[in-house]
Amino acid sequence: MLLEDTIQVQAGGRARGYPIRVRNGIRRSMPQLISGHVKAHRYAVIADERVAELYGREIAEGLDGGGKKARLFSFPPGEASKTREEWARLTDAMLEARFGRDCAVVAVGGGVTGDLAGFVAATFMRGVPFVQVPTSLVAMIDSSVGGKTGVDAPGGKNLVGAFHSPRLVVVDPEVAVTLPRGERAQGLAEAVKHGAVLDPVYLADLENDIPCVMNGEVGATGRVVVRSIEIKVGVVSKDERESGLRKVLNFGHTLGHAVEAAADYSLPHGSCVALGMVLEAEVGEKMGITRKGTAGTLARMVSLLDLPTDLPPGMDPGTVLAFTHADKKGRAGRPRYVLLSQPGQVAASEDWARDVPDEIVLEVLAQHAGRSSGGASGAREGV
Ligand SMILES: NC(=O)c1ccc[n+]([C@@H]2O[C@H](COP(=O)([O-])OP(=O)(O)OC[C@H]3O[C@@H](n4cnc5c(N)ncnc54)[C@H](O)[C@@H]3O)[C@@H](O)[C@H]2O)c1
Ligand SMILES: [Zn+2]
Repeated sequence: MLLEDTIQVQAGGRARGYPIRVRNGIRRSMPQLISGHVKAHRYAVIADERVAELYGREIAEGLDGGGKKARLFSFPPGEASKTREEWARLTDAMLEARFGRDCAVVAVGGGVTGDLAGFVAATFMRGVPFVQVPTSLVAMIDSSVGGKTGVDAPGGKNLVGAFHSPRLVVVDPEVAVTLPRGERAQGLAEAVKHGAVLDPVYLADLENDIPCVMNGEVGATGRVVVRSIEIKVGVVSKDERESGLRKVLNFGHTLGHAVEAAADYSLPHGSCVALGMVLEAEVGEKMGITRKGTAGTLARMVSLLDLPTDLPPGMDPGTVLAFTHADKKGRAGRPRYVLLSQPGQVAASEDWARDVPDEIVLEVLAQHAGRSSGGASGAREGV
């Protein structure tokens, strides 16, 4: 990894762009870094309780010591906190502490924190500036790029939210050393997706880098984080509002989301996407669109992540198929699939996604049902 990488995001021409700064140890330079991007009277550092202890307190104290008045606000870790109730609690706590429209929010944590604290920032006093310090690989690689914030509702995930771009994203790959192995795999699943859709060289490199990142090596972590951010930024900069090219990032997600829903959200997203990529590559192979062997390549990489390549025991292929029809990204009630032409390349089509016959999907699902691949549950550790 370079000594320091700055990746500039152009937010679709509408909103202003923002830089993503990546460097080991950069979290210790927050006061100086922030100065160039946000001028606020006070800073609300928001972190879940676990990350607050590891990094949130350090960052809040660093800001305070650097002349920026900061206060730490925390909430219980996990997806269960990504709710309107927690949004209200944090907002009320900030109001009670007399934070005003001249404040800024600093989100320190995983994707849950980025989405929740980002939504607080988007709505507090009709919107205050927001800085992201992603600490999980999911957050570094995926959720801190793109400007989506929000919370879950009883009817589903991410149903209430807003686009609110950060002013600055500060990525310190070093903090991933404390991340549990299973959480690293969750982020790496999206990294494999980035390589699979747009970059064959990166995909090949990942095969060597995955074991190193899984073992917590900082150098490999930095390389992967930088390349994945570059790829996501390249796509999102061209298409902030998800009308065109951004659809390629849905590779593995049509079947991934269906498996996630069929498991009643008891499996983590990255595990489902990892499986979804293998299944969708097989669908593409059966349709003669994806080069033979692509699914095998992806399955090998998913195995390196200790994630499943088969449906969880007992999951019914028909149920998964039915959930694909409920996909909100479908068209006229039909699910849409992003298919590869080969590893590292999306097959061109009218709008990057296409209709696939249900019989082919069912055939692939059936071939992956009732078997048990290593680590099939992919269940979350330590959450
Ligand atoms: N906005 C977007 O575009 C976008 C994209 C992808 C995912 N997401 C959202 O992201 C969320 C998932 O993110 P996540 O997987 O990071 O979950 P998370 O924020 O719950 O973090 C996972 C766990 O890791 C812990 N953790 C985080 N960083 C750590 C570190 N450095 N050391 C030790 N522990 C650490 C957290 O405390 C938590 O227990 C979901 O809610 C999803 O909807 C949003
Ligand atoms: Zn995803």
